[in-house]
Amino acid sequence: MNKQFKRTLITSALPYANGPVHIGHLAGVYLPADIYARYLRLKGEEVLFIGGSDEHGVPIALKAKAENVSPQEIVDTFHYLIKKSFEDFGITFDIYSRTTSAIHYKTASDFFKQLYDKGKFIEKVTEQYYDEEARQFLADRYITGECPHCGNEHAYGDQCESCGTSLSPTELIHPKSAISGSIPVMKETKHWYLPLDQYESWLRQWILEEHSEWKPNVYGQCKSWLDMGLQPRAVSRDLDWGVPVPLDNAKGKVLYVWFDAPIGYISNTIEYSPNDWEKWWKKEDTRMIHFIGKDNIVFHCIVFPVMLKAEGSFILPENVPANEFLNLEGDKISTSRNWAVWLHEYMEDFPGKQDVLRYVLTANAPETKDNDFTWKDFQARNNNELVAIFGNFVNRAIVLTHKYFEGKIPPCGELIDYDRETLKEISDTKMRFDNYLETFRFREALKEAMNLARIGNKYLADTEPWKLIKSDVPRTSTLLYLSMQMVANLAIAFEPFLPFSSAKIKRLLNQPHLNWSQLGEIDLLPTGHAINAPELLFEKIEDEAIECQIRKLFDTKKLNELNETK
Ligand code: MF3
Ligand code: ZN
Repeated sequence: MNKQFKRTLITSALPYANGPVHIGHLAGVYLPADIYARYLRLKGEEVLFIGGSDEHGVPIALKAKAENVSPQEIVDTFHYLIKKSFEDFGITFDIYSRTTSAIHYKTASDFFKQLYDKGKFIEKVTEQYYDEEARQFLADRYITGECPHCGNEHAYGDQCESCGTSLSPTELIHPKSAISGSIPVMKETKHWYLPLDQYESWLRQWILEEHSEWKPNVYGQCKSWLDMGLQPRAVSRDLDWGVPVPLDNAKGKVLYVWFDAPIGYISNTIEYSPNDWEKWWKKEDTRMIHFIGKDNIVFHCIVFPVMLKAEGSFILPENVPANEFLNLEGDKISTSRNWAVWLHEYMEDFPGKQDVLRYVLTANAPETKDNDFTWKDFQARNNNELVAIFGNFVNRAIVLTHKYFEGKIPPCGELIDYDRETLKEISDTKMRFDNYLETFRFREALKEAMNLARIGNKYLADTEPWKLIKSDVPRTSTLLYLSMQMVANLAIAFEPFLPFSSAKIKRLLNQPHLNWSQLGEIDLLPTGHAINAPELLFEKIEDEAIECQIRKLFDTKKLNELNETK
């Protein structure tokens, strides 16, 4: 399929507002989405980058109960904390809103009503656990009891956290309501279901035939869901936190969080651009890309597309470049076990070093398999790559230009073969670079950008202008002319990845106007152009800072072990 697209709508999964965001969120979803958005904007394309908080769902309602506050108070706290973290790390959302906004309630409600009126749902009455004391139906998470597999007495109605088995509430031995502690009874309840099974052959065609270019991990997961056969999915719940089901006979029922949350992408577009939003969602020349983690694949590749298809007037995603998971020091990141590097804490511990984390997380992004973040690797990449290669080259070129040519770009003399070989390497790198960015291979793209710095660093080390200056000023002049052009190229190439450092280089170069289309050119800074005084781009991270982080994690681990043996 060779469609011509005029604009790109980029969405990034809306994080649950029941905790702060951590490095796993950043590495898996928000950095790749931001790199891609920045890249397209630099190329002059029309882009809209949507973010926001996902503020419904049972875990938020449960947390509120446990802390004796309203769910709104919980999501207010975390929405603003999350939003601030994203701003700190330079994630360039065009809008970061939330699913408790009035616009979202209206949009989600209208969407449900549309599907209902068109007869797209089926209604089913089933029996579910009901708490007679609290007079409400119990979500799976609200029921605890004994696990039939391992005997753990505090298993939940959806899962036993002790042996990891997924459960249904009726499997629990001696079930108990988490709200009142009473023994729940079975009671009939009516819900609306999206008959996914009716869309199976369409999905097969659309994904398996027409989108075989999707990443293997995404395509594979879709195929296995389709091969297992799809079931109708309930899109409503008996719960008091969420968007009310907009029907007369639906008191006490809300939209299932996974029904309302993706509609949040639409609501946020409407909030951002009330008069113009339809061009992003209803025009065939708009390309929609969903950035998500692997646990969200079924919702973005199957459920949400079926909702959009059933409604009938919306476009479907062109690609869903989902990532795998990032682990931390060998263990799965976990909010409840506090096993994470929280972005707001990183900002306190490493102020001004957002680009270092952006670099490490992109270089080690879980694009094709789960990856591990370790503090030692963080330190090594900072010291051996950012400081020793990138920072060193930029600094040397600027310092030497000041020392020998009064801070002005010197004239370029005749090039010799070695210069031409170096320039050839640069243009080869550039060609691979664009291709990687187009195909969401940001690790590889970043490697190519770093390769440009490596080429520059080697160029100076090989030619030793600090020795040559004594015998051959014209040749030194050419070397520094070319080196400074390479520095300017680095400012361009790194901009999607390390925006803060790129901006700093432009300040040092006294040259705010460097365009993506100029990447690879060697006349970006004209002879005679005055640059600013040198400043270091990166600084070494000492063992002490790293040991402090490792100790913090060790303490968490000890605390968790203590709690688990209780
Ligand atoms: N809150 C979900 C999660 O963290 C993601 C929601 S994505 C959306 O897994 F599409 F529903 F918004
Ligand atoms: Zn168990």
